[in-house]
Amino acid sequence: MDRKISFIGVGPGDPDLLTIKALKKIESADVLFWADSLIPEKIINLSSKFSEKIKTSGLTLEKITSIMIERFNEGNTVIRLHDGDPCLYGAVKEQIEILKQKNIGIEVIPGISAFQVAAAYHQAELTIPEITQTIILTRAGGRTGMPEKESLKDLARHKSSLCLYLSARHIKSSQKTLLEFYPPETKVIVGYRVSWDDGWTSLIELKDMEKFTIKKGLFRTTIFIVSPAINEVTNRSNLYNPSYKHLFRNK
Ligand SMILES: C[S@@+](CC[C@H](N)C(=O)[O-])C[C@H]1O[C@@H](n2cnc3c(N)ncnc32)[C@H](O)[C@@H]1O
Repeated sequence: MDRKISFIGVGPGDPDLLTIKALKKIESADVLFWADSLIPEKIINLSSKFSEKIKTSGLTLEKITSIMIERFNEGNTVIRLHDGDPCLYGAVKEQIEILKQKNIGIEVIPGISAFQVAAAYHQAELTIPEITQTIILTRAGGRTGMPEKESLKDLARHKSSLCLYLSARHIKSSQKTLLEFYPPETKVIVGYRVSWDDGWTSLIELKDMEKFTIKKGLFRTTIFIVSPAINEVTNRSNLYNPSYKHLFRNK
């Protein structure tokens, strides 16, 4: 059997939102690396009491990958846990490249991202016909910076559903920019540690986003979903419309 290191998305925090595949990997791992600043211990506690659990928040890329390689070469089953889905702000590519240079096989197992759970809690559909059919997942610049062609101003012009990750510290400038394009009453779902035991979500209006964020003292693990689709009277879809025939309903 081909041995591999698995990069696993564990969702936003609630262990019940793990995929079955992720759970099986966690239960059978010898060594788990986990982003301890973003993953609750509840998830790590699903692993064997004999497994080695390595927190990554205080380690460098070089340190993490060198321990991974060492443990893997000793014959252990090694997994790397990321919050949400690994493809979003997960810094996985740099790890995978180093491991591949050592001829170590990799697999990535997807997870549920924070925006999906926040939307679900509010029973929100973020793609409503003729209002918006697009979801933008982005972040405010911060220390990482944004490519010039993806400034919030350019993205906000579309007035689509827009999810802001990693942006609570930059809420003042974000709100100002968004208000140039979206009406002040546009609904915003704010989620803090969504699906953690102490997590919550709230539905507010765009004009109050900065004030609310400051009042709640939010600066970490917060998602904002700004969307003209939330609380809209729904334009019905073609999919279930009796006058619209398609492959699975042609009568
Ligand atoms: C480094 S990024 C990783 C995103 C992750 N890969 C995902 O798909 O959700 C961390 C950011 O994701 C968002 N986030 C992750 N988990 C969250 C949660 N449970 N509640 C609210 N926001 C969350 C926050 O914006 C946080 O600052």
